[in-house]
Amino acid sequence: MTLRDAALMVRERAYAPYSRFKVGAALRSPSGAVHVGCNVENVAYPEGTCAEAGAIAAMCAAGDTAIAEIYVIADSPEPVPCCGGCRQKIAEFAAQDVKVTMATLDGKERTVTVAQLLPGVFTMAHMDRA
Ligand code: THU
Repeated sequence: MTLRDAALMVRERAYAPYSRFKVGAALRSPSGAVHVGCNVENVAYPEGTCAEAGAIAAMCAAGDTAIAEIYVIADSPEPVPCCGGCRQKIAEFAAQDVKVTMATLDGKERTVTVAQLLPGVFTMAHMDRA
């Protein structure tokens, strides 16, 4: 199954009663395993948890700790950019040259590298003197 198909399928399971905006994410780990996530909202924090964060949590729960490729899909006029928090979460597990594809249901895609998604990322190296 392609990452697009996996993201499309899991998007249907999004729990988004507040925004009504369903998002699906699928990532492949170097092991070859595909991990998926959808956004899950709640009344106290209606923005909830993003699909990307869900896929990363599923990856860790399955025992993988690296992202080789990630695909995010929503029903929007243009591919929806990952939020700031998700950019940092993706960068935690992905090398700078890893591809992040953002897509729409009607087939528009925008692919960038992690370095392009989060320029000047804060890393462990910045704490070397701590
Ligand atoms: N959302 C995601 O899941 N991923 C993104 O990249 C952008 C936004 C979700 C969070 C919230 O449930 C809804 O979309 C509206 O912000």
